[in-house]
Amino acid sequence: MGLRAAALVTLMRAARGGLGRGTAAVLHVASLSSAPPEPVIAAKEPFPVELKAGKLYAWCACGHSKRQPFCDGAHKKAAPGISPLRFTPEEDKTVWLCGCKHTRLPPYCDGTHKEDAVQSAQLPA
Ligand code: FES
Repeated sequence: MGLRAAALVTLMRAARGGLGRGTAAVLHVASLSSAPPEPVIAAKEPFPVELKAGKLYAWCACGHSKRQPFCDGAHKKAAPGISPLRFTPEEDKTVWLCGCKHTRLPPYCDGTHKEDAVQSAQLPA
């Protein structure tokens, strides 16, 4: 049984009075809503970016920013629980920053955007 199903069974038992009141039900309600938020696909390809040594960057991890590939604060309303990835390069360099937000090597593109799950996805309006 998955975590959500187990939590639902616990809630149903609690509602029938089968469990001690209060704490157990409250704990399981919290686990129902604890699924981590998922990023949206901002783009189906990476963004080439010239980074400057010593400058602080905030890569958008939620996909909702209108300043891709960087954060514009949109996560605060659109995806609470996902924070931008802040980084400071040690040298000037041109890199490919992930636009699909599903890379396994954030903030850099690792080629994940080539997978069907990304290429067949609908982009947000
Ligand atoms: S754009 Fe996300 S892995 Fe390439």
